[in-house]
Amino acid sequence: MRKNIVAGNWKMNKNLQEGIELAKELQAALNGKTVKCDVVICTPFIHLASVNAVIDGKTVRLGAENCADKVSGAYTGEVSAAMLASTGAQYVILGHSERRAYYGETNAILKEKVKLALENNLIPIFCIGEVLEEREAGKQNEVVKTQIEESLFDLSTEDFGKIVLAYEPVWAIGTGKTATPAQAQEIHAYIRSILAAKYGQAVANDTSILYGGSANAGNAKELFSNPDVDGGLIGGAALKVETFLPIVEAF
Ligand code: 13P
Repeated sequence: MRKNIVAGNWKMNKNLQEGIELAKELQAALNGKTVKCDVVICTPFIHLASVNAVIDGKTVRLGAENCADKVSGAYTGEVSAAMLASTGAQYVILGHSERRAYYGETNAILKEKVKLALENNLIPIFCIGEVLEEREAGKQNEVVKTQIEESLFDLSTEDFGKIVLAYEPVWAIGTGKTATPAQAQEIHAYIRSILAAKYGQAVANDTSILYGGSANAGNAKELFSNPDVDGGLIGGAALKVETFLPIVEAF
């Protein structure tokens, strides 16, 4: 079943105490409220267990921002998918453009991460998206297709059905420049068509495809009103309840 999801990506922000406070405030703000989407907060690794203790895992769900591409062992500084699952995390963002650009994550590495996340019952929020030069050259469809094919298309239909996609045009991330609702709808529909060609229309229809990139209270409603936009992956605006809640309530 396709779900509407609004997920916050805290990135490398907030110390532990600030993170716990934000999670508590968000949980309190949503208690007793009916919202029309699942709400997820994806936090730095060190926050996960403590944040999990102050949310209910239903009204507010927990996710991580990355995981290792190895099972376990001598990989100093890495955090495995199994470790994430043991904190109570239900989701993990994989393939964020910042990981691809600054930490050399390739489609091949991401394929391993997706596999390990799924083996540990984590739901990958798999990010795809083009950089500005690619958009200007009209190559955005080609770019997202390759990202999806090379990291995800070896999955069984059953496993693919567990994936959440997030289309995040790199030129829109943290820039205040949002894709127009029409641009978002156009590429989301294209992405769904690729999924349909590979896994069938039913699987494609059931896949949540989120938009990310300078989404905020002012543009969320219009973005989410598109038939192929199933929610948002929110950076800056996820760092305060007063900016995140209106996005959740835009559905
Ligand atoms: P901003 O909402 O800050 O543009 O970040 C988007 C993003 O990268 C979410 O993963």
